[in-house]
Amino acid sequence: MYTLPDQFEFFSDAWLAEAREFLEREIAARRDRLAGPFSLSECFTAAPPHLELPDDVASWNVHFDGETIAVARGADPSADLVVEGDYQAALTSAQRVGITVPGAEAAMWREVRQQFGADAIRFRGGVADPEAGALLALLHDHLGRRTVENPDLYHRAARQGLARNIVEMEDQGYTVLERAISREFADELREATLQALAAQGVTSLQWMLYQGRPFELLAQHPQLMTLIDASLGCGAVIASLSAIRKGPGPGFIPLHTDYAHVPSPYPEFALTGVGVWALEDWTVASGPTWMVPDSHKRRRPPRPGEPIDDGVPIEMPKGSVVFFTEGLWHWQGDRTEGGERVTLHWHYNRGILRSLEPKKVDPQMLHRNAPRLGEMLGEDDWFDKMAGIGRDHVRFAHMQQLHSFTNQQKAKILDEAGAIASRDLASA
Ligand SMILES: [Fe+2]
Repeated sequence: MYTLPDQFEFFSDAWLAEAREFLEREIAARRDRLAGPFSLSECFTAAPPHLELPDDVASWNVHFDGETIAVARGADPSADLVVEGDYQAALTSAQRVGITVPGAEAAMWREVRQQFGADAIRFRGGVADPEAGALLALLHDHLGRRTVENPDLYHRAARQGLARNIVEMEDQGYTVLERAISREFADELREATLQALAAQGVTSLQWMLYQGRPFELLAQHPQLMTLIDASLGCGAVIASLSAIRKGPGPGFIPLHTDYAHVPSPYPEFALTGVGVWALEDWTVASGPTWMVPDSHKRRRPPRPGEPIDDGVPIEMPKGSVVFFTEGLWHWQGDRTEGGERVTLHWHYNRGILRSLEPKKVDPQMLHRNAPRLGEMLGEDDWFDKMAGIGRDHVRFAHMQQLHSFTNQQKAKILDEAGAIASRDLASA
């Protein structure tokens, strides 16, 4: 297992033991309020091989007979509520904490469907007793606070459909995830961004992580996290989460790289990476970011006045994100149409670098999120946990193990780059 002692992987023995303990404790405390028996069965296929589950199937069932609760591995198709689907899709929902908030559970499933398709998770039946339903929602949140992402980058990228994007990112320095979030979530983010900017009377703003729940969720978007793990290695940290609104007229950010303080030649691995979220459709007229494919291979910034004839506009629909890395050359396009472009610029750093925004750790924020967010705020690495008498060896060993597994699995993706490209051509 690839976790710190207080965390677990989805459907590991530790996850199951924690679920059992929670249910036994909470049912004892509310037995009088429960209407009667209820049962649940969940069965998810294509679990990562390192979990060593039979046939890579993750399943369990929960039965309450009115008196005692029984928790066991294995599916039970006759349970009141039967949930089936893909492991990675289920894990994506399992890492979303806070589903007792009205509307939050529906929004969670909407985004899972957006990423994995309408049939990725299927439900049959239901738990009629509202008290039992509330208990299961609390169980979801309780486990979610300690459930880590699938550490197998190869397996995860394949299940998320991102192997091709990783190959493309390495090759040309950027890749686009089309419609990574729903149009509804994009609208919600756009409105919240405009409100945050208006409240300060500015057109750009830092520290967007602290502007509300939608930004916390976007900061740990699972597909973007996979690109970040592939580019920056595991243990990457938030460098800055900023917002920009821009009206018609010429772009005001000329050709540059984001390696402002990195001497050239740049290293042959990524130090930073940026995801720019489109909260409207990006067209040439809307003034998108322009990028120079392969420019990361020059390992230097553009020279003053250097002519560029191979820049391309990033055109993508609302809810998409373009991720670029390794000192890629880019600039802000001219906007020739009316209206405003509202963008979120999500910068991440390799874990050994300082953040642009000094990290602020809010215990309540950690409590309402899966471990990934804390990890990106330095909670899980050995730097922020160093004591006067030495480093945190548990966290040091944990991160070394994750690095090694991630690097191994990334190499496997790149080894298969040719096959991945031809698979995509075959399915196109
Ligand atoms: Fe930039």
